[in-house]
Amino acid sequence: MSFPRDRLRRLRETSSLRRLVRETHLAPHRFIAPIFVAEGKQLREEILSMPGQYRIALDQLIAEIREIKALGISAVLLFGVPAQKDEEGSGAWDPDGIVPTSVKMIKQAIPEILVITDVCIDEYTSHGHCGLVKDGRILNDETLPLLQKMALVHAQAGADIVAPSDMMDGRVQAVRKELDTNGFFDIPIMAYAAKYASSFYAPFRDATQAGPMFGDRQSYQMDAANSREAMREIRTDIAEGADIVMVKPALPYLDIINRARQVAHLPIAAYQVSGEYSMIKAAAQKGWDDEEGAMMESLLAIRRAGADLIITYFAKEAARLLQREE
Ligand code: PBG
Repeated sequence: MSFPRDRLRRLRETSSLRRLVRETHLAPHRFIAPIFVAEGKQLREEILSMPGQYRIALDQLIAEIREIKALGISAVLLFGVPAQKDEEGSGAWDPDGIVPTSVKMIKQAIPEILVITDVCIDEYTSHGHCGLVKDGRILNDETLPLLQKMALVHAQAGADIVAPSDMMDGRVQAVRKELDTNGFFDIPIMAYAAKYASSFYAPFRDATQAGPMFGDRQSYQMDAANSREAMREIRTDIAEGADIVMVKPALPYLDIINRARQVAHLPIAAYQVSGEYSMIKAAAQKGWDDEEGAMMESLLAIRRAGADLIITYFAKEAARLLQREE
């Protein structure tokens, strides 16, 4: 059974044939678009290290969401860029803070779009870490109540899904308990289960004007070298009540996505992070890559590896391209 009888090129000859046998597909309803909402007015400020991405103020938010919705994208993931920060990150659970206010506005104007909120205090802390800090150490258990308060405030504002990204142990259980106790037993948790301490987050830290003021995140985010440990993280988060588990970053971690697909029988999300986006954009600006091609191929690879949902800064551009191709 081989050549010349077998010819794999037979099914590649025309675009109709290729389409007929294609194994993986991209669709806008699989995309989640991250949005940076900033305090201030009439602000739509391009993020230097993320061309085509903006920090936007509340008065621009609804227009942005309408555009996203019209492209067939299912959900947005909100990140707050607050004007004030403190040691504890108290802005994170202020019911009148930037994220709860955004959630209320969106759910009132366009209730059909799913609103997911990032639950992590780093954008609100003066030291830029994802947990409380004492003597240079990031405290785990003491941080959990803060995450509970933050998640509850988001749910009360009307968030459809909460997404803890802090990587403290026990956070999924803590957040689940808090939501249930307050009657929000129907709000799913999308857990950043296998979140690596990655250099590919650098543009995001510029976007949110956050990032650690001392040290790094290696005592809580995962070591890039580890794969078995990612499965422990995923199993733990599922056992604690996660409804969706995430792998992050995406493209440099396709093996982890694929392995997660084998162990997890619930939806898997992959986060194509800021650095993955900016790499493709920067090369395109120099005329060094085919931007559309690289964008679609990377998204397809993430789906092929086993991700059901993709959080991507390319959401709008890719959705537009898919609409044109139809
Ligand atoms: C933490 C958070 C980060 C990202 C998402 N949530 C930053 C970090 O962990 O340092 C990174 C996302 C990206 O790079 O696009 N709130």
